[in-house]
Amino acid sequence: MPAGKGFIMLTLEQAREKLQKYGQEHVLKYYDELSEEQKQALLEQIEHADLSRVEACKHPEDLLQRGVIAPLASMQLGEIDENRESFTAAGLKAIRAGRVGAVLLAGGMGTRLGSDDPKGMYNIGVTRKLYIFQCLINNLMDVVREAGNYIHLFVMTSDKNHDATVNFFEKHDFFGYDGSFVHFFKQEMAVACDYNGKIYMEEKGKMSTSPNGNGGWFISLKRAGLLDLVHEAGIEWLNVFAVDNVLQRIADPCFVGAAILRNCSVGAKVVRKNAPDEKVGVVCLEDGRPSIVEYYDLTQELMDAKDENGDPAYYFGVILNYLFRREDLEAMLSSLPLHLVEKKIPYLDEEGHLVKPEAPNGYKFENLVLDMIHQLPSCLPFEVVREKEFAPVKNPTGIDSVESARALLALNGVEL
Ligand code: UTP
Repeated sequence: MPAGKGFIMLTLEQAREKLQKYGQEHVLKYYDELSEEQKQALLEQIEHADLSRVEACKHPEDLLQRGVIAPLASMQLGEIDENRESFTAAGLKAIRAGRVGAVLLAGGMGTRLGSDDPKGMYNIGVTRKLYIFQCLINNLMDVVREAGNYIHLFVMTSDKNHDATVNFFEKHDFFGYDGSFVHFFKQEMAVACDYNGKIYMEEKGKMSTSPNGNGGWFISLKRAGLLDLVHEAGIEWLNVFAVDNVLQRIADPCFVGAAILRNCSVGAKVVRKNAPDEKVGVVCLEDGRPSIVEYYDLTQELMDAKDENGDPAYYFGVILNYLFRREDLEAMLSSLPLHLVEKKIPYLDEEGHLVKPEAPNGYKFENLVLDMIHQLPSCLPFEVVREKEFAPVKNPTGIDSVESARALLALNGVEL
């Protein structure tokens, strides 16, 4: 019999056994106090949770073993300028034929920004309202106007922000976009635990969960049935991008055309790093395949390394704007590596009171979109001018903040 939502397969005994196997019996501490409905919900959550993931934090050193790193040349601005016309023409042709779709990754929690709302609802305007979602739609509209047709936009949310996100788009009439081209889908959730691997409870009948990272987007799109729509619409390229870069160029015809004409499985927009230790992942080859090394894995030796022209070998950072060829995504076989991310996780204390910690207090478990690059045969790192295309909003102030993004928006003539 299939396990559907609301249909309980696990009995209390079976749930206890599953928890015992991973040393997590405390999850049932308040079981007897719960209503019938809450009991069912908890058993269902236990049934679906992948508790083996939690074991990973006991041996973090085993998680991501890196291969041999070597430089991967990026297509730089000079070469792009020389080919701009032909790239743009090829990209526009694909967009007009409906072969390009866009995927907005908006399932994150945005904890650093510190607002309880979805990050896209943040008002970055000063004298007028200008929401992050609105900035992104405005940018996408530039291409819609140039191409003369709408582009399917898939928006990934999570259990934590789905309803708020959908309502916000509807309330604002999709910021002038054609709503029939916007499709929402939810990513999966994963349990979160303390530094010793003990799962936190966020309610007496609920284990703490966090969205399982942005790497789950393709599986979640498929599970939501939207890959069928991708096929029916004839979409061959999916431009995946982060919610928090307000200068994000989406379905950029020049970028699309370059990936098509260079016949690459994936294109990755990159910027020149502003310092050797800037906190962005850099493109490279790893054991001969394209890859991205996160900033915390970049050794001093790699930071200092030079390529054959004497330029820094690992100097192009990714900005979470990738163009994936659908066919290659569908052929991807292996699962993505797991990352442990330290986070502030709300939890019930010993007395059963909810605590919202001020500092990170444990791990959440994530798959990352950047690891998908390593599973694909070829990648085109494509340089863009950072002042024009990279204004991430991660923090309220300081680096990659509301302040810095406002300054960059103003520099690009956006009325605030
Ligand atoms: P970040 O790595 O900045 O994470 O996300 P975050 O959760 O939004 O923010 P912090 O770290 O808690 O402050 C980069 C992009 O990936 C998306 C985010 O929405 C953002 O567009 N993302 C992240 C997801 O879609 N799902 C996730 O599980 C995590």
